[in-house]
Amino acid sequence: MEDYRHLIDRALEARDRAYVPYSRLHVGAALLCEDGEIFTGVNVENVSYGATCCAERTAIFHAVSEGKRKFTAIAVVSDMDKPIFPCGICRQVIAEFRIPTILSGDKNGNYKVYRTEELLPHAFTEFHV
Ligand code: THU
Repeated sequence: MEDYRHLIDRALEARDRAYVPYSRLHVGAALLCEDGEIFTGVNVENVSYGATCCAERTAIFHAVSEGKRKFTAIAVVSDMDKPIFPCGICRQVIAEFRIPTILSGDKNGNYKVYRTEELLPHAFTEFHV
């Protein structure tokens, strides 16, 4: 199986930049582009909680803003002992960009590899009117 150690390390390093005055849960994400470039993201919270953006979406929006469209994997870590999994909204955004692989890691960088299809079966990816 492919070694995603470097991607996890980039997510861990980003995690420390999380803006989390409310939950105090630091989350870091790292997104691997098809061309090998990596974009990171952190969760950015808001006093109006619903305005919070998760680390995964920050990373994806960061990359798309820089002109990237093709991705191979996204890693997510936090400062919890157990691995963290993307929320439902982030899974939907991961599906939108057809990112095939999700790496779920814990605070020490231990991680497991999942297929996006496993974590969001029957994703809504197109519509017709
Ligand atoms: N959060 C993420 O950034 N990614 C996840 O995968 C799950 C949750 C954030 C949102 C909020 O800032 C904090 O973690 C607690 O929910």
